[in-house]
Amino acid sequence: MTEGNSSIFHLAIFLVLILKLRAQFPDGNEVFSNRSKANYTDVPKDISLKTTILDASQNCFSQLQASDFSSLSKLRILILSHNKIQSLDTSIFKFNLELEYLDLSHNQLWMISCNPTVNFRHLDLSFNDFDVLPICNEFGNMSELSFLGLSATRLQKSPVQLIAHLNISKVLLVLGELYGQHEDSESLQDLNTKSLHIVFPPHKAFHFVLDVAASSAVNLELSNIKCVQNEDEQYFFSVLLKLQRNPRLLNLTINNINTTWNSFIRILQLVWHTSIEYFSITNVELKGQVDQREFHYSDTSLKALSVHQVVSHAFYLQQDYIYSIFSNMNIQSLRVTGTRMVHVVCPLRVSPFVYLNFSNNLLTDATFENCGTLTKLEILILELNQLKELAKIVHMTKDMKSLRKLDISRNSLGYETGINCSWTKSLLILNMSSNILTDSVFRCLPPKVTVLDLHNNRIKSIPKDATSLDALEELNVAFNSLTDLPGCGRLSSLSVLIITNNAISQPSAKFFSSCQRMRSVKAGNNPFQCSCELRDFIKGISHMSSDVVEDWPESYKCDYPESYKETALQDFHMSELACNTTLLIVTIGISMLVLAALVTFVCVCFDLPWYLRMVCQWTQTRYRARNIPLEELQRNVQFHAFISYSGHDSAWVKNELLPNLEREGLRICLHERDFVAGKSIVENIINCTEQSYKSIFVLSPNFVQSEWCHYELYFAHHKLFHEGSHNLILILLESIPQYTIPSNYHKLKTLMARKTYLEWPKEKSKHGLFWANLRAAISIKLTEQKKEIV
Ligand SMILES: *[C@@H]1O[C@H](CO)[C@@H](O)[C@H](O)[C@H]1NC(C)=O
Ligand SMILES: *[C@@H]1O[C@H](CO)[C@@H](O)[C@H](O)[C@H]1NC(C)=O
Ligand SMILES: *[C@@H]1O[C@H](CO)[C@@H](O)[C@H](O)[C@H]1NC(C)=O
Ligand SMILES: *[C@@H]1O[C@H](CO)[C@@H](O)[C@H](O)[C@H]1NC(C)=O
Ligand SMILES: *[C@@H]1O[C@H](CO)[C@@H](O)[C@H](O)[C@H]1NC(C)=O
Ligand SMILES: *[C@@H]1O[C@H](CO)[C@@H](O)[C@H](O)[C@H]1NC(C)=O
Ligand SMILES: *[C@@H]1O[C@H](CO)[C@@H](O)[C@H](O)[C@H]1NC(C)=O
Ligand SMILES: *[C@@H]1O[C@H](CO)[C@@H](O)[C@H](O)[C@H]1NC(C)=O
Ligand SMILES: *[C@@H]1O[C@H](CO)[C@@H](O)[C@H](O)[C@H]1NC(C)=O
Repeated sequence: MTEGNSSIFHLAIFLVLILKLRAQFPDGNEVFSNRSKANYTDVPKDISLKTTILDASQNCFSQLQASDFSSLSKLRILILSHNKIQSLDTSIFKFNLELEYLDLSHNQLWMISCNPTVNFRHLDLSFNDFDVLPICNEFGNMSELSFLGLSATRLQKSPVQLIAHLNISKVLLVLGELYGQHEDSESLQDLNTKSLHIVFPPHKAFHFVLDVAASSAVNLELSNIKCVQNEDEQYFFSVLLKLQRNPRLLNLTINNINTTWNSFIRILQLVWHTSIEYFSITNVELKGQVDQREFHYSDTSLKALSVHQVVSHAFYLQQDYIYSIFSNMNIQSLRVTGTRMVHVVCPLRVSPFVYLNFSNNLLTDATFENCGTLTKLEILILELNQLKELAKIVHMTKDMKSLRKLDISRNSLGYETGINCSWTKSLLILNMSSNILTDSVFRCLPPKVTVLDLHNNRIKSIPKDATSLDALEELNVAFNSLTDLPGCGRLSSLSVLIITNNAISQPSAKFFSSCQRMRSVKAGNNPFQCSCELRDFIKGISHMSSDVVEDWPESYKCDYPESYKETALQDFHMSELACNTTLLIVTIGISMLVLAALVTFVCVCFDLPWYLRMVCQWTQTRYRARNIPLEELQRNVQFHAFISYSGHDSAWVKNELLPNLEREGLRICLHERDFVAGKSIVENIINCTEQSYKSIFVLSPNFVQSEWCHYELYFAHHKLFHEGSHNLILILLESIPQYTIPSNYHKLKTLMARKTYLEWPKEKSKHGLFWANLRAAISIKLTEQKKEIV
């Protein structure tokens, strides 16, 4: 093949595949319209034209029109059950070429005409009021028919022959209340169906001779058998006897049967000798006595018997006889459920039972006591009975050498520690759910168990000395009171764990490291306590694949603390800092260090304390200025400030201080410039200070040495300075070491100690603030005062 050819070949295969797929799913998008239970009396007109499935059941239609469905050309499935339709003409579907499924059951149909026919796959005309079988000639052409539901009060051979050549999967035949008068017992002989279900009239005694064994039927189901009188019983037995004539029959199901105990045993005996392999009898009502006749087990095809829902109205019953009939049956599978049976006896000989299901009865711990004949039994179901002591159940199984699965769920089982607990070694699947078992059950488990269901018990923890469960793969401990997830140390094969609805508040995250084989975990609906400890668990669980954690995140919610209640675990976050004490301490330490370093840096580089002091003084000045009464200011002052200083500092005063103050229009009294000759220096000072609003002293070591003595006297007797020193401004030009201040200068020492001076900053950048501060101290109120004085 050349390369071109081969690619064409591949393309062709691809196209064929696509066509095949499209053929399998003719319409990927079904359009479904549900108009059920809407009280319609006519078919609604607003149904989408694209509708392929229409459910209009449980309405009030009484008639169908040709126009009702003609526009729904895509319609495939039409459900019209539970209406009041009386007649049907299939011609109304002549435009519904796709229609293949029509359900008209539970109507009041009594007439049908079929012209032309529709090729139905599923046609249900059961539970209607037809007198004769509603089979038209045209039905013979419904080659695809697989289900046909019929109803009639009279059966005849001829209509059945019309469809005898079709291969129908299932025929449902509902016989009306009036059935039975003119019977043709052979009428169903030609029916060609795999399964036949006949529903007899529910309230009528069984007086029928109908041969129900259609020759092709494999499955036969009979509903509503009422034979309580001796006469009816004979009718029914003769019907059953005829089953022997159809060797193809495998399954027989009888529903809703009302009869006597004797007839019931007789029915079993009759079926025993047919070709039937699976016999199921459901909803049985029994009365009367039972005569102890021998039951002939030999020569049977039966494999499985199922008896479900039995109500017995017998006052006195030879129960042992009935129990022994069941337990000695030579079949593989027996199911007797929902019967209020209190006991089963041990089979006399080695029994072929492989499957026994006795669920929903009243069996006690004495069941199969010391029974060594159930050696082939693989599955035993004792669900929903009256079992109480687990140790007795363990003992019961000890000779069941093939037992693989035991279901003792929904009983009242408890287990007391210390009792020898040796299960049959073959047991693999054990269901002990919904009992009252406690932690101790873990000391009494089959060693090879792979599936263990213990949900809905009273387990608080898995004890340390539990049986080792190396084979356990699936464990269900939901609805108990466990407080933590089990580690997989002793459960080395565990791959499925269900532990929902327990009391787990702070699951340990160890689970994720120890349980590497997990395929499925469900741990939701637990009262999770959302705190730091839970973070590892949340991390662990959210890192697992969503196929593994099946109920994440919706079933995982915080229960505590109150502020997080109902918050999804997925949305619960706590910072590393809030949870790690060491980290918290380290962080706080580092922050403090950084802060300290910052403060030191600011102090060193920008002289923060100096600024703070300046700002503080500024504020105090403004505050004081506001509080000084006006009269005080109205004293006769000529100068804003009087400045005294040492001759050594005169350069600074003249070059810095004076220009900066006088530039703003402030008037300054200088003792060199403005002193009146002839007066003593002290007199001059006093004069000058009295005419000035503020007194400024420029302090430096020189000033202290040379000038202060002049002022000591002044300070000593001038009362203004005793009352408060707020008219006094000290400028510290150079720092004055304490020791240079002579010891008798008390006032200077006090003033220096109070630190109420302005410090002349060395850095040029700070000078602006210094001057502003100083000017504020001497000027603000004075401008006001000047107005008043001048
Ligand atoms: C249509 O809806 C009804 C309830 O209104 C429901 O019982 C019925 O099953 C639905 N039909 C189908 C085909 O789903
Ligand atoms: C149909 O009618 C019944 C009784 O008249 C009424 O209870 C019911 O709600 C109605 N249903 C609808 C869907 O209208
Ligand atoms: C069945 O179909 C065949 C051909 O397809 C036709 O000849 C015959 O008349 C049809 N029978 C009925 C009863 O419609
Ligand atoms: C029914 O099945 C038989 C045998 O399997 C076959 O010969 C016959 O053609 C089938 N009839 C129809 C209508 O399919
Ligand atoms: C008969 O019944 C059994 C059990 O219900 C079922 O497994 C089997 O498929 C049925 N046989 C047929 C042929 O339908
Ligand atoms: C069964 O038959 C008895 C006696 O005829 C009758 O009392 C009882 O109601 C019947 N039960 C059923 C479910 O038909
Ligand atoms: C046992 O029988 C009950 C009642 O018929 C049924 O629901 C249940 O599934 C059966 N159990 C098993 C394991 O077959
Ligand atoms: C155990 O029995 C209960 C019912 O009693 C059932 O719901 C559950 O699925 C069973 N467990 C297993 C593992 O089969
Ligand atoms: C328990 O019983 C089994 C046999 O029933 C026996 O082999 C085993 O030694 C017993 N164990 C104890 C501790 O009694």
